[in-house]
Amino acid sequence: MTSRPFLVAAALLALAPTACGRSDCPPVSTSTPSPTPSQPPAPTAPPAAAVKPDCGALTGANAVQTEMRMLECTLQLVVTAIGRNDLASVPPAISTLHAAKEATEQALHAGTYKPMNGDVAAFAALDEAFHASLVTLVQAAGANDHAATAAAMGTVLGGCQGCHATFRPTMPPAPSTPPAAPAGHAH
Ligand code: HEC
Repeated sequence: MTSRPFLVAAALLALAPTACGRSDCPPVSTSTPSPTPSQPPAPTAPPAAAVKPDCGALTGANAVQTEMRMLECTLQLVVTAIGRNDLASVPPAISTLHAAKEATEQALHAGTYKPMNGDVAAFAALDEAFHASLVTLVQAAGANDHAATAAAMGTVLGGCQGCHATFRPTMPPAPSTPPAAPAGHAH
């Protein structure tokens, strides 16, 4: 059968370029405009991580273990912040470690935490140097400097084994699960 709707549509299309009907009509492009398929979408900031664990709520069997569990958790937040362009969240995250460091210092002072080989001074010096590297990390993130934040993160991570090799008594268990961490995958 003859397609009357088609003819109507074709007539409308033919009229379309002159639909303006004035002398100052905008120029009509003869090429078929395409919805710019070759252009990638404008970059958008990725959404914040779905669930932020409460690293400050972690505890261990002693002051250092508590500090270490918070530290491990917090540095994971820093990786997330770097990837999600959220460096502003780094300083407050790291600041939760401050109280843990003070608790370690007090425990060393009071003798309630004894470093493995008994060398309190060497342990305290390593801990001090390590926290200085955290300060650099906080400053870089505070300045929203991605390159400096990543470099500072490398320095921070480079300090772990220097202390563990001498002062960590046992192989740690699998990572502790922070309270608000998302549920693990079922396999
Ligand atoms: C100044 C010394 C020192 C530095 C620096 C240090 N650690 Fe530790 N860490 C320790 C000691 C000591 C222990 C063992 C504590 C215990 O079990 O009593 C430990 C234990 C750990 C544990 C095991 C905690 C558990 O659940 O038993 C983890 C994880 C850990 N550290 C992560 C890190 C990471 C990550 C870094 C670097 C970013 C780091 N540590 C830097 C001294 C240090």
